[in-house]
Amino acid sequence: MRILAVGDVTGDCGMDFLSSNLRYLIDDENIDFCIVNGENAAVRNGITPHEYDIITECGANVITLGNHSFDRKEVKNILDNSDIIRPANYPSAPGKGSTVIKAGDKKIGIINLVGRINLLNVDCPFKTADREIEKIKDQCDMIFVDFHAEVTSEKLAMGFYLDGKVTGVFGTHTHVQTADERILPRGTGYISDLGMTGVINSALGVDKDIIIERLTTMMPVKFQPAYGKSMLCGAIFETDDNTDKCISVRRVHIE
Ligand SMILES: [Fe+2]
Ligand SMILES: [Fe+2]
Repeated sequence: MRILAVGDVTGDCGMDFLSSNLRYLIDDENIDFCIVNGENAAVRNGITPHEYDIITECGANVITLGNHSFDRKEVKNILDNSDIIRPANYPSAPGKGSTVIKAGDKKIGIINLVGRINLLNVDCPFKTADREIEKIKDQCDMIFVDFHAEVTSEKLAMGFYLDGKVTGVFGTHTHVQTADERILPRGTGYISDLGMTGVINSALGVDKDIIIERLTTMMPVKFQPAYGKSMLCGAIFETDDNTDKCISVRRVHIE
């Protein structure tokens, strides 16, 4: 099977680029299952039923979230759907942290976690991963984990911690794609960050001039989304149909 994971879709331009390109990418690459991180899909971050509908209609089988999961209150209207999950290690939150979805004759489990280093003061992502794997492992053939975290050391630690227990671990949140995709020693496919789906010449999707003003003056500024030429970033995990183990990980970057 070929599983495509797409990095944080950010703002109007990210949504436009995703809706005009995801279907073609899925066809061109013979993708069987698609995971999209949608934590920044709405203007002012978060996600509402509007972006949820567009992302699922253009080919995503499941949407994962992150530290911006609850930025838009409208999210509560979609969190009971089976194809959207938020980080499982929120101590108490609506929605769920994992799900199992059928793709052809396989059942794919997806777990979403958020990091604690420089990010959120939440429950331990490692112990939460153990608990979520235990919850879904008998219902699915393979498991993929979106670890939404800031620092690469925490992401790598999670990759090695879950190596051999899940089929794939990918990072999201930094909006910058890393070049460290590989198969870990016990067979889990891994990449530290998928990167962003949004405006290329921006600071993580925000207007770059505003960020420069902020960082050169350290005065408060109002963040505005960037507009312009966009990209889609992600990775394709290929699995062996007999063992359900990952046999390759390849970065995707289209402009
Ligand atoms: Fe993000
Ligand atoms: Fe994030």
